[in-house]
Amino acid sequence: MRVVKIGGSVISMLEELWRSDGISSLMDNTVIVHGGSRHVDELSRKLGIKVEKLTSPSGVTFRRTTREVLDVYVAALMKANREIVEFLRSQGINAIGLSGLDRGLIIGQRKKLIKAVINGKVVAIRDDYSGVIKQINTDALSEYMKVGIPVIASIAYDPVENVPLNVDGDKVAYHIALAMRAKELYFLSDTAFLANGRVVPEIPVEKIGDYMAYARGGMRKKLMMAKKAIESGIDSVVIEGLNGRTVIY
Ligand SMILES: Nc1ncnc2c1ncn2[C@@H]1O[C@H](COP(=O)(O)OP(=O)(O)OP(=O)(O)O)[C@@H](O)[C@H]1O
Ligand SMILES: [Mg+2]
Repeated sequence: MRVVKIGGSVISMLEELWRSDGISSLMDNTVIVHGGSRHVDELSRKLGIKVEKLTSPSGVTFRRTTREVLDVYVAALMKANREIVEFLRSQGINAIGLSGLDRGLIIGQRKKLIKAVINGKVVAIRDDYSGVIKQINTDALSEYMKVGIPVIASIAYDPVENVPLNVDGDKVAYHIALAMRAKELYFLSDTAFLANGRVVPEIPVEKIGDYMAYARGGMRKKLMMAKKAIESGIDSVVIEGLNGRTVIY
């Protein structure tokens, strides 16, 4: 089987991607996972809710997920979910819209302490509703796959605190691929991996470290997940955009 992660950045371009090349051929024996950063930004703007972007001591930027932002996150991701399901159904695909809460598909644990650098100082944040992924309900997922294509929003469920959690879509895709023993992991995004402005067509896993210097933000996470995926026995990871594809093996 394969896992296809649809980036929040491409939901509005699904039709183009579908026509341009092979994503229609990826819709068999597949689980779809998606993000939705742009949907979260748009909805919070509409609602007038300020979303803080923070930087961790190691230099990774992230969205501060207060209880208020969590509500926006869940609503925005489910809107993204409906858009993907609508699109797939219009193409004749029997898509099933889900999130990690449904039947505990993605079990997470809230991060009780997050460190961020604010005005040059390291600050402890304890009211954040983002989490780490603990478990994937593979039995439930296999059942859904028998009747259609599961489309899973990147929201985890924390059974200890009984809350939904913000979890990163690339990480969810990696964890599902691992748990389901997927052969392939696809990241559909607005671009393939670029170095000096050019698409890099192939990267053997032992070379990922060399290419890391070219990757920022969301792309860094994809390369990191790709490395872990290949090292865990997944055959290939593809980062695909309208400008081409990068195959990591
Ligand atoms: N070397 C690179 N090659 C290509 N893109 C890069 C590179 N370095 C940084 N990027 C950025 O990474 C972005 C893709 O990651 P991003 O997290 O924004 O998208 P996504 O994961 O598809 O969406 P979402 O996070 O909403 O699910 C690109 O739009 C680009 O701005
Ligand atoms: Mg991303």
